Amino acid sequence: MAESGHVANGGTTADIQGDAQFVVVANRLPVDKTVQPDGTVQWKRSPGGLVTALEPLLRTKTGAWVGWSGIADSDDNPDIPGIEIFAVPLSTQEIAEYYEGFSNATLWPLYHDVIVKPEYHREWWNTYVTVNRRFAEATARAAGPGATVWVQDYQLQLVPKMLRMLRPDLKIGFFLHIPFPPVELFMQNPWRTEIVEGLLGADLIGFHLPGGAQNFLYLARRLAGQATSKGTVGVRSRFGVVQVGFRTVRVGAFPISIDSGELDTKARSREIRKRATEIRKELGNPKTIMLGVDRLDYTKGIDVRLKALSELLAEKRVDPEQTVMVQLATPSRERVDSYVKMRAGIEQLVGNINGTYGAVGQPVVQYLHRPVPRDELIAFFVAADVMLVTPMRDGMNLVAKEYVACRSDLGGALVLSEFTGAAAELRNSYLCNPYDLDGVKDAIQAAAEQAPEEGRRRMRALRRQVLTHDVAKWADSFLSTLASATETETNANRGVHLVGDQMDEDE
Ligand code: ADP
Ligand code: G6P
Repeated sequence: MAESGHVANGGTTADIQGDAQFVVVANRLPVDKTVQPDGTVQWKRSPGGLVTALEPLLRTKTGAWVGWSGIADSDDNPDIPGIEIFAVPLSTQEIAEYYEGFSNATLWPLYHDVIVKPEYHREWWNTYVTVNRRFAEATARAAGPGATVWVQDYQLQLVPKMLRMLRPDLKIGFFLHIPFPPVELFMQNPWRTEIVEGLLGADLIGFHLPGGAQNFLYLARRLAGQATSKGTVGVRSRFGVVQVGFRTVRVGAFPISIDSGELDTKARSREIRKRATEIRKELGNPKTIMLGVDRLDYTKGIDVRLKALSELLAEKRVDPEQTVMVQLATPSRERVDSYVKMRAGIEQLVGNINGTYGAVGQPVVQYLHRPVPRDELIAFFVAADVMLVTPMRDGMNLVAKEYVACRSDLGGALVLSEFTGAAAELRNSYLCNPYDLDGVKDAIQAAAEQAPEEGRRRMRALRRQVLTHDVAKWADSFLSTLASATETETNANRGVHLVGDQMDEDE
């Protein structure tokens, strides 16, 4: 650890305890803490795509990670080679109000097309502010002078502004891993202005898709720059840039990806291929294995694919003796009401299908409600003929990319919802609209019955995209834009203003 230092900040100072030049700030640490009944502590990989994407980055780049351990009142820092960990403790009440409440029962549904109704509670918001401040303070201590800080996701949208007040010397990037909603939906949020202003504390704000960036640019113009206690701050936006007083904030689209090369290599290994053959055998060597791999979340459309399968079986378009669907579902946010209800609904659908179409010892749907080890998951991808990715809305969906990366044999077919970020890149999948059940059924049937040559053609094109656009490229693109964004800001601070190319102003 470096010697402590101080950064002056308009009269206050921030204690710098760390010397990290690169700091990731995310709600979760890369590992999740569990305490066994006998008191033994275990650290396991944290769930979700954010950790899947960022963990390989910090293997190649030394730095610090500021985040929560996943359980209440814990500030243990797990040992992870090459990463300095700064755990941010949360109390039981903060978990209920900041994490389960404002993050996952307000923002998550609001940003995912209000698939369930977002709840707005002032206590949840107050706790969201308190916890964001704690993350900002922990980051201000962890980051060395002039460091680059990369704040992640919807749980921490106030951190960029709070951190800038504490540490004006830092370069601050923010990336949103989930969709940024249409303006009409965002406007529901009673704290919409605070959130937009929180994000505008960053030097660069990244979204998966250009549409999200556009929505944000419009909102920045409309919501920020209103009267403040210090007078009105002028906010103007044009293509890719928001001008906040003398500061320039860049806004752009950076579609996230996976470590495709690593998955490709693993999926080609003898052990994985052998395990894939065993999996097929354990499933009774059916003609078609369909696979779903998701956190158990209502955005993922797991119910849609089960309903589609059920109707295809009823219409005899799928043969129950020749077809197995495997659904691997990682438990997620189990104390949030909408998740409890959704789980019950999905388990009922699985039971209905097996009760109607299965035989003793031969269920049509095999459902696991637990995370599967990484190598086992790769073997499932290699074994599956049809990959079912049917979200109602998803920022990117890394599972779709993982499946493609695992198919060097050019086998398999991907059924993919149009409402995932991945659909913008994976045009050679069997695209479907998850709200159109007949369309989903047709896509599944077409994928299951594709001619081998057609399947190879599609998979070759999909792989070209996934293997040439990996997570290292995503991170490089974001971080190099951030580096150049802050250089431009230095110019802006000298009074050089970016002009021209203005978007229509919303007067
Ligand atoms: P999200 O971030 O919303 O969970 P993504 O598809 O982007 O969705 O990322 C999910 C990540 O979690 C992927 O890396 C995927 O392999 C992993 N994952 C999902 N379900 C499981 C499971 N049942 N077992 C193990 N890993 C899983
Ligand atoms: C998505 C979110 C992440 C989140 C992950 C797992 O990927 O974008 O921010 O960490 O889901 O969800 P959880 O609530 O378990 O952290």
